[in-house]
Amino acid sequence: MADSSDLTKEEVRARIRAAGGDILESERFRRGWSVRHHNTTVAQHSLRVAAAGVRLCDMLRKRGLEPDEREVIRTCLLHDIGMTEEAVHGKMPWRKAYEHPLESARIAEEEFGATEDMKNAIRRHMWPVCVVPPGHLTGWILVTADKIATSQDYRKKDV
Ligand SMILES: [Fe+2]
Ligand SMILES: [Fe+2]
Repeated sequence: MADSSDLTKEEVRARIRAAGGDILESERFRRGWSVRHHNTTVAQHSLRVAAAGVRLCDMLRKRGLEPDEREVIRTCLLHDIGMTEEAVHGKMPWRKAYEHPLESARIAEEEFGATEDMKNAIRRHMWPVCVVPPGHLTGWILVTADKIATSQDYRKKDV
């Protein structure tokens, strides 16, 4: 069926590890396991976003689109990495909403070699809060995957 993904959890996890294993094993990402975010942690949330991103790529391919799955996975894993900076995470919610995408994009480039498209997606992932919408397909997948994962965070349900 064109509107669903038939991938198993194991297949999704294998794709995430293949595309983003270096990120998962980094000291920076590991720091995210101890930073609270929604009802969970930055690391758990980011893995849920990446899983939703893989499934969205699968669905979009069935619709004839050609998402860059590796780029999507890495962008999803890094989109909230700025929250691991105490200076960002400790701010008032409204300031954090605007500042963490910028900090995430900086870290994604400096520590993980993020491309311009990845940084664009990360900076705009809070759309419509940030007003300017994503400029590429990866960005739209991230926006959607982030909302799906956030609803899972509040239900405490794994994907
Ligand atoms: Fe975010
Ligand atoms: Fe997020």
